[in-house]
This record gives sequence, structure tokens and C-alpha cells, in this order.
Amino acid sequence: MQLVVFLFSLVVPCNFYRIPPHEEVARVARFVANQCNWASMATISTHEPVKGQPFSNAFSISDGPVGFGKGVPYMYLTHMEISVQDLEVNPQASLSMSLAQTDFCKNQGYDPQSPLCAHIILSGSVVEVNGTEGVFAKKALFSRHPEMVDWPTDHNWFFAKMNITKVWVLDYFGGVKTVTPDEYFQATPYKKHH
Ligand SMILES: *[C@@H]1O[C@H](CO)[C@@H](O)[C@H](O)[C@H]1NC(C)=O
Ligand SMILES: *[C@@H]1O[C@H](CO)[C@@H](O)[C@H](O)[C@H]1NC(C)=O
Repeated sequence: MQLVVFLFSLVVPCNFYRIPPHEEVARVARFVANQCNWASMATISTHEPVKGQPFSNAFSISDGPVGFGKGVPYMYLTHMEISVQDLEVNPQASLSMSLAQTDFCKNQGYDPQSPLCAHIILSGSVVEVNGTEGVFAKKALFSRHPEMVDWPTDHNWFFAKMNITKVWVLDYFGGVKTVTPDEYFQATPYKKHH
């Protein structure tokens, strides 16, 4: 695996991992989704004393290997988890990811709240996946979160994904921009820049 990554780094142009131009909003969204290893997920709480209120919590995610993501954020969940219990009642959720997680914003000197520190918000619902998609989800997650393989089996972990209905992008000044799921999934985050 390391050899493959090493060889890969030799053949891939050095600007391969560069953020797409900010006006190519769908590409930026896919870039952020693929670069991030975790997301903050907001659910509608079912727990007192905040029942009915937004509840935001950190989750490990993966849409595939870095450079080869498919845009679908996969998660490894258990019904023992507080936010997952919210999803059982109402699967609607919001996932937020930011390049503040990566070296990009630090190197550029962008504050996490600056739109130049590109971040996205995905609206939709969280659904269980299995079958061939479950196999892909497992590969996508376990390759980027190797510790998952050792998580306690008696927790009945399952694979899930965000079923995206709307993508919100903050990647430049002038306010939030939106991208439809179709635009998002058709975008190519890593194609060569002109
Ligand atoms: C996944 O498995 C669950 C439980 O076995 C089942 O209810 C569900 O329909 C399956 N989903 C898919 C997409 O096959
Ligand atoms: C995903 O969301 C769309 C739009 O709300 C819905 O029509 C579709 O059934 C959902 N898919 C799954 C697998 O829940």
C-alpha cells in the first residue's frame, strides 16, 4: 500500500491536490468532502434537556481514498451513540466539513470562519448502506481510519451514508453558494487546472 502511494505521488502532478478555483463551486465542494477525515453532524436531539434542539457532534467520515473520493460521505455508526439515537427518530441531518482540518488554511493564514478557508454544509438524511455499497463504505472508512477495525464488536456497528439533498459552499466572499446533488456528483475535484 505504501509503495503504491509512493509510486502514485511520483506520477501525479504536484498541483493535483490543489483546491479548485473558487468559482467552480461544485468542484470545491467535492474537494473539501474528499480532503476531510471528519465532519460535525447536527441532528435534532431526542435527549432531554435539549429535545427538539440542534445537536452537533463529531464523526469520522470517508468518501473514498484521498484523490479518489466519490462524494458520498460514509460513516461507521452504532445505535449506542447519542446522535445515532436521534437519527432513529429523525434521519435528517446536516454535515459540516472544513479545510481548517487540513494544512491548507493554516498555511494560507485563513481563519476557520473565513470563506477563503473553504467549508461546506451538506443537508440530507442518514441512511444505512449494505450490499456492494456497504463493502465500498467499509474500504473507504477503514483505509482512512485504521483504528475502526478494532472498535468493540458488541456495539453492532453498521455502515451509513449521508443521502445528500443540498450542498452549501463557503469558498469565497459574497455569501453562501448552493450546489445540487447532481452538480456535486458530476464534479471532478482533482482534474488538472488550466
Ligand atoms: C440493509 O439491511 C437492512 C437490515 O438487514 C435492511 O432492512 C435494508 O433494507 C438493507 N438495505 C439495503 C440498501 O439493502
Ligand atoms: C434520499 O433522499 C431523497 C430526497 O429526499 C429521497 O427521495 C430518497 O428516497 C432518499 N434515499 C434513501 C436511500 O433514503
